[in-house]
Amino acid sequence: MRTSLQTAGASIVAAILLLAAEGCSHLPGKPGFRQETLRPDQTLGFAILYKDNCSACHGDGGLNGPALPLDNPVYLAWAGHDRMVPIVAGGVSLQSMHAFAQSSGGMLTGQQVENIVNGMIAHWGRPGILDGTHPPGYTATTAPDIVAGKTAFQAHCARCHGADGTGAAATGAASKSSVAGSIVDPTYLSLIGNRGLRDIVVAGLPGEGMPDWRGDGFDEPMTDKQVTDVVAWLGSHRVRFPGQPFPSSPPTGQNPPKRN
Ligand code: HEC
Ligand code: HEC
Repeated sequence: MRTSLQTAGASIVAAILLLAAEGCSHLPGKPGFRQETLRPDQTLGFAILYKDNCSACHGDGGLNGPALPLDNPVYLAWAGHDRMVPIVAGGVSLQSMHAFAQSSGGMLTGQQVENIVNGMIAHWGRPGILDGTHPPGYTATTAPDIVAGKTAFQAHCARCHGADGTGAAATGAASKSSVAGSIVDPTYLSLIGNRGLRDIVVAGLPGEGMPDWRGDGFDEPMTDKQVTDVVAWLGSHRVRFPGQPFPSSPPTGQNPPKRN
């Protein structure tokens, strides 16, 4: 029977022989020349930057995530490079998208933010897609009018989202993509700001069958004012305590109702 000392000695000899035979640079698992993992702030490729930083919320390839789809040429052209860079660098205020640039406390360099925005435009944009069109403003230019928004909703949205926005009546509407969910649900509205709603109303959701502000030929394109008013009407369905079984919230300053 061999002693444990002998066993250890044999292992060391074997290891030395292996090193000698293979050479240090060929150890299994050791990255080859130029294969070392880059420091996070040295990664510059769009695909990796997008996947690591954005896809969890905006979806793989810019689609089907919980937040706004970014693979939308109309959105990319409408928002544009110069607006998106500060959005990504500084975060979307009041919403769950934080700031990404190191200058705002995030992890990305200015160059990385540039590469992500340019990459989205290069991969998912379509040059000239808005040429000759007059899209509504990126931000509202008129005071929001909730009552007018309800009328605009009836004209431009109800056939797909139902007369009251709950989506229930949408089935069988005169549209090829007639099934759309509720967009007045307070829980949904608590997760999206008026900014995000304006993005959807103007740029549509092409992957899901929702047209942009021009509609799909059933009616006139929406005006800037109609977009602002529809967003205000949708936003008017927000409640103070979304997702609660008692949606009529207690007035300011009072304790929530006691329950046994
Ligand atoms: C934690 C989730 C999350 C991550 C991660 C995230 N976003 Fe967002 N993003 C959001 C939300 C939520 C909104 C919409 C907010 C709203 O309702 O207006 C948004 C909005 C945007 C908008 C549109 C803003 C506007 O004002 O029109 C852009 C552009 C955008 N994100 C780009 C990115 C990019 C690029 C990345 C990766 C660097 C990223 N986001 C990562 C959650 C996220
Ligand atoms: C041709 C049908 C159609 C029209 C017209 C239409 N939508 Fe949509 N909309 C959809 C579909 C389909 C979806 C994606 C499925 C879903 O979210 O239920 C959608 C999604 C949305 C969403 C995102 C909902 C979510 O859960 O992420 C919002 C907000 C929205 N629509 C608002 C509007 C507004 C406001 C109008 C009118 C200005 C409008 N839509 C007009 C079909 C339509």
